[in-house]
Amino acid sequence: MLLRLAYVSRLNSDMTEERIAEMIEAAASANASHDVTGVIALEGLRVCQVIEGDGADIDRLFDNIRADPRHAEVIELDRAEVSTRRYPEWSMVRLPMVDMVLHAYAVL
Ligand SMILES: Cc1cc2nc3c(=O)[nH]c(=O)nc-3n(C[C@H](O)[C@H](O)[C@H](O)COP(=O)(O)O)c2cc1C
Repeated sequence: MLLRLAYVSRLNSDMTEERIAEMIEAAASANASHDVTGVIALEGLRVCQVIEGDGADIDRLFDNIRADPRHAEVIELDRAEVSTRRYPEWSMVRLPMVDMVLHAYAVL
């Protein structure tokens, strides 16, 4: 079962651009090994991420993400069983927030 999950959160203020870049790089490489794909947008302290993959993998990953002290106030926005991936080519990529919204409405 293919699951797509979207959430928002608030980044901890000690997260520098350098630490953010490291975090996304590590996420992309871990995701690639679990066949997880998705996108992340960060603007100020606001985070929005979409992850998609096998249901069990996404549940496990989201448990980890929820517990991660690098951000807080994690709010699940959407969890949907889907038949195809929206981001098959990205194990994790950072997008501008507006592009994330356009993707969500399938405009991009
Ligand atoms: C905003 C944010 C997004 C994250 N996205 C991912 C992700 O897409 N994939 C991933 O493997 N870890 C991601 N992480 C890191 C996980 O929270 C966690 O550190 C990682 O799964 C390693 O877990 P481990 O302790 O089992 O090695 C993210 C963390 C944060 C704060």
